[in-house]
Amino acid sequence: MTEGCLDPARVEDLPGPRELPLLGNLHQIRLSRLHLILEDWAEQYGPLYRFRVGPRRGIVLSDRNEIQRILADRPNGFRRPRNLEPIAVEMRLKGVFAAEGEDWRRQRRIVMDALSRAGIEDFFPKLATTVGRLRRRWEKAADAEAPVDLCHDLMRFTVDVTTQMAFGVDVNTLETPGPTIQRHLNKVFPSVHRRLNIPFFYWRYFRLPSDRALDRALDAIEIEIAAIVKSVRQRLALEPERRRSARNFLEAIIMKLEEEGSGFSDEEIFANVGNLLLAGEDTTANTIAWTIHFLTGHPDWFGRCRHESDALVTPGEKGIEDFEQTKRMPVIDAVSNESMRLKPVAPLFILEALQETEILGCRVPGGTGIFMLPRRVGTRDENFVDGNRFDPERWLLTPKARRGPHDLSAFVPFGAGPRFCPGRNLALLEIRAVLAMLCRNFDVMPVGGAGIEERIAFTMFPDKLFVRMKRRNQH
Ligand code: HEM
Repeated sequence: MTEGCLDPARVEDLPGPRELPLLGNLHQIRLSRLHLILEDWAEQYGPLYRFRVGPRRGIVLSDRNEIQRILADRPNGFRRPRNLEPIAVEMRLKGVFAAEGEDWRRQRRIVMDALSRAGIEDFFPKLATTVGRLRRRWEKAADAEAPVDLCHDLMRFTVDVTTQMAFGVDVNTLETPGPTIQRHLNKVFPSVHRRLNIPFFYWRYFRLPSDRALDRALDAIEIEIAAIVKSVRQRLALEPERRRSARNFLEAIIMKLEEEGSGFSDEEIFANVGNLLLAGEDTTANTIAWTIHFLTGHPDWFGRCRHESDALVTPGEKGIEDFEQTKRMPVIDAVSNESMRLKPVAPLFILEALQETEILGCRVPGGTGIFMLPRRVGTRDENFVDGNRFDPERWLLTPKARRGPHDLSAFVPFGAGPRFCPGRNLALLEIRAVLAMLCRNFDVMPVGGAGIEERIAFTMFPDKLFVRMKRRNQH
């Protein structure tokens, strides 16, 4: 294995897969498996290598310290890829995720406040109600002996949670029959992933059926967001005392917009509502789905999670009802951490340096795509003992009892540094509440024997993950 390049070297001198003239490595890339292809190459070419897609040059990094350093050096040293910004503008989604510099700082402050730990504690009763709706949905599926499309149901759950938490609006898609806003949201991430990673901006010149479908989805999302914004504006007009202290992200951002010189625009409100809906939906839903997938394959851990939730839930109740209970779930936390380590829904971080920089002794020009592979780092034996093994016990051991490395700086499912995920606490709460409810009330069986494959469309998800639920003690 080659260890990066020797000092000082140019990107062209790095090892990497053989490139064809003009195409580079385009012919070897499948966008839906991009992270897997880059991970395979990392196995061959080491912690720093180069590849090229048409005219666009990228380097691929899987070194724990360098990844931490780069993530920490934002927004001044590194940024999200430059082509994200125009793509987000075209999709009317240029909010906190795609913003940079001062623009980003301004939006980030409001998002952080809105998703603060204290706000989440106050929100807990509504989360518990939404978990109850998910349980009733799964009870119906169990009674009908119908297979459950886990990602699909969990996305309804996460959209319901995000809209209530961030916007104070209950869209209740879990109990809405037929198609809902998710149908439109689901078109956005695959398009962002495709447009970010292909070398030609063809959609600016002609539109394929998929681009037209995206346009329709974005129009539909805009209508839904407009309805949400309108209802919050009306509430603020009817209850002016609410202006003394905003109760959620949308109230805060609308009030900022009205402040003279705040720099906020109507477009930014729309874009940020869209950002939060998208950022909170797939990520959390897919993380819970992967964790349930592991639990179905490891009945011993399912049993331990069940034991933990049974001990926490008040006798006669079906789920946790109190925020304090969510702080006492070490086993459920261990299982979900282990699932995020092996199946992180963000297995690929793409950034670029603002100016020329040195990475592992290699001179990297500003603007070069830096593709980072956090999963490769988190599964290496030098960072986590027996790194590819599903072993939640590692999260329960005291440092003294551990048999080898357990390096938390190699575990970054939520990113790191100043742009690290502001929704982490909300996501962890959702994960705990859903898993406790699941283990308490259902037995879960996988459907279909074949292994579940990973796909990436901005976030990484299990392809065709269906399960059967049975009410507990029913058989
Ligand atoms: C298990 C669930 C989740 C995972 C694994 C996850 C992961 C991530 C990751 C890896 C990033 C990039 C961090 C970086 O650049 O260092 C991110 C950013 C972000 N996440 Fe999450 N996320 C989750 C849930 C949520 C939720 C529930 C919300 C809000 C409702 C949210 C809102 C955001 C936002 C707004 C950003 C952009 C932050 C910025 O650019 O400053 N995420 N998330």
